[in-house]
Amino acid sequence: MTHPFDVLEAGLADRAALALTRRRRIADTPCAPRIRIDGRDLVAFASNDYLGLANHPRLIEAIAEGARRYGAGSGGSHLLGGHSRAHALLEDVLAGYAGGFASDPRALSFSTGYMANLAILTALAGRGATVYSDALNHASLIDGARLSRANVRIYPHADAVALAAMLDEDRGDGMKVIVTDAVFSMDGDIAPLAALTALAEKHQAWLVVDDAHGFGIHGDDGAGTVADLRLRSPLLVYMGTLGKAAGVAGAFVVAESTAIEWLIQQARSYIYTTAAAPALAHAAGVSVALMRGEEGHARRARLHGHIDAVRAMIGGIEAMGAGVSAMASTTAIQPIVVGENEAALALADALLEHSFWVPAVRPPTVPPGTARLRLSLSAAHETDDIQRLGQALRASRAATATAPRVGVATA
Ligand SMILES: Cc1ncc(COP(=O)(O)O)c(C=O)c1O
Repeated sequence: MTHPFDVLEAGLADRAALALTRRRRIADTPCAPRIRIDGRDLVAFASNDYLGLANHPRLIEAIAEGARRYGAGSGGSHLLGGHSRAHALLEDVLAGYAGGFASDPRALSFSTGYMANLAILTALAGRGATVYSDALNHASLIDGARLSRANVRIYPHADAVALAAMLDEDRGDGMKVIVTDAVFSMDGDIAPLAALTALAEKHQAWLVVDDAHGFGIHGDDGAGTVADLRLRSPLLVYMGTLGKAAGVAGAFVVAESTAIEWLIQQARSYIYTTAAAPALAHAAGVSVALMRGEEGHARRARLHGHIDAVRAMIGGIEAMGAGVSAMASTTAIQPIVVGENEAALALADALLEHSFWVPAVRPPTVPPGTARLRLSLSAAHETDDIQRLGQALRASRAATATAPRVGVATA
């Protein structure tokens, strides 16, 4: 009889043989471009702290202020005593900020984006429904679709024409739910949201948009990718996260009031879990005020300058014939595609030798053969960081394109 541990050990050995072992690195300093990781001082291009707010003194103070006012923990689920004034205020602010697409917007706050996505998909879709999901959607959307027990149809990445054909084929009257990342988390490209909205309207389908990587960044006041495109539809269900550009933790859904009421009544990952600490909701509210104001505006402008600089830098390295390729991303996620897992790890290791941390991402997070460095930018980076990273990348690629890999690196 096989011992259960033998199964795990064999599985771990298989992963290691394919260079797929993931490992965590320990940070001793706050999330910032200059970070101490595993005892080494590095310049990191690794976080989703796109506006550089995660270590902002005003937000650190807001968490303390929230804790003084509301205590350390919520003490219960939202429906059984854990819903505090801080959560309620945050939801009102978020509905006003990101809900311009709806006529009667309402927001619902969650502890994480993962849970928000499970909530949306399991509550809106069920047996007999069909979920139409982009091939490169985030794992939390994939898991939500699976958990919903709906029929799931995957459409080719960002292909609204293929999706239209699928919707035309499906003549049944079950609920239809189209779901997409707004900014794809590993490629950095943007979904064809205007075309998807038109399809949702034509087929009376819900359109669930996960803007984890666009909220706070896109749109004049940072209200997100849907606001930036000035889309309007009662069928839109918008998910934004508060642990990325907003620099705190948590997530929210904004939709027409009826859809939010349905989530409150139906969504198990909303109902059966302890509400996030009210201090975090309080700090997230302060973060929204920062993002909407002058400071947010200045930080977005700085981030966009960095994005242009990195695109030019990666394009230059690609043109050198260094065997890496850029992606058509205009966002803060700028992947450098290397191909094989070993090669991506070797490049990440070599960059570490130059004191730069750019995580390697491998399957199943990305398709096989497209292992990459996921370079992410923050307004907190210095322009000089990008220039020095470019030099280090050139040197590292020259060294690793020929030499076998020696170290063990990264995510
Ligand atoms: C596109 C996308 N959606 C959802 C999530 C989950 O959000 P959270 O980290 O708040 O659980 C992430 C990342 O974590 C993401 O990249």
